[in-house]
Amino acid sequence: MPLELIINRIENENAGIRVLYLTAADGSDLPAYTPGAHIDVALDGIGTRSYSLIDFSPPMDPPFCYCIAVQREDAGQGGSVAMHQYQFGDIITATEPCNDFELRQTCESPVILVAGGIGVTPLISMATKLQESAVEFQFHYSGRNAAVTAFRKVLEEQFGEQLFLYLDDENPVLLDAVFSSSEKPADVYICGPAGMIEATREAALAAGVSADAIHVELFSTPVTASADEAFEVEIQSTGQVYTIPVGKSIIDVLEDEGLDLVFDCQRGDCGICQTDVISGTPDHRDVVLSEAEKASGKVMQICVSRARSERLVLDL
Ligand code: FES
Repeated sequence: MPLELIINRIENENAGIRVLYLTAADGSDLPAYTPGAHIDVALDGIGTRSYSLIDFSPPMDPPFCYCIAVQREDAGQGGSVAMHQYQFGDIITATEPCNDFELRQTCESPVILVAGGIGVTPLISMATKLQESAVEFQFHYSGRNAAVTAFRKVLEEQFGEQLFLYLDDENPVLLDAVFSSSEKPADVYICGPAGMIEATREAALAAGVSADAIHVELFSTPVTASADEAFEVEIQSTGQVYTIPVGKSIIDVLEDEGLDLVFDCQRGDCGICQTDVISGTPDHRDVVLSEAEKASGKVMQICVSRARSERLVLDL
């Protein structure tokens, strides 16, 4: 049964992240949810977007509301931009909460939570629940820099020494240290971009955590735009040509074909997958390159960017 939700409060957490507080448009009680749950918001002409529900302690104002955070992605499909255009009092339609990333019912200590970027949102609710339940936990949260890291102050106040904050430009997270700083965790919960999830999972497994104790939720930026078309990528070193269909990134296809690539964020903001372009015209969708670099067409981020020409020849 879809919910009609009214935007009761808006806060700009930073230049790119907006926090929306939602109550039922008809004034009724909202359906309950568990930590890790999300709602799917319907956006006209765009589709649906999933947003994790955030619980702080003490409870939010207004009470019994849903709180979501939306990171604006100008290179995305328009969903986050649309969400940033809503105003106080607007009504949105969403699903009832559902949860694919649940805390175990009987939490044993200790629990390790590892968040990357806006992937922090479901883990805030988990940390709040663990704190209320007196379960021992560590909350590791990494962001690109102080300016874009969401909820820093409130998280420091609420979780104190249980919060470990890392900024890529100051003290980047050392995943081996995360798992050596605690006795072997009963459970590990990870939310963030794919590269961060895989690196954290590997570190946890290396530390002796069993695979079934590692729970993940991917936060990723869709790479599809309505005008997208398939294009070809030629690998200069081998001459092999691959077709990149709509809905898949260059990295997706080349990795599936067995090429060994270096990448991390898969959101176009870390720069690690940057690749030289021998010929063809990239369609840049990253936030790494300067305007001059984009205009030159000589490099591209192959995790999110596509092509304006039928074929790209890449220096791979
Ligand atoms: S993997 Fe980070 S920009 Fe491509």
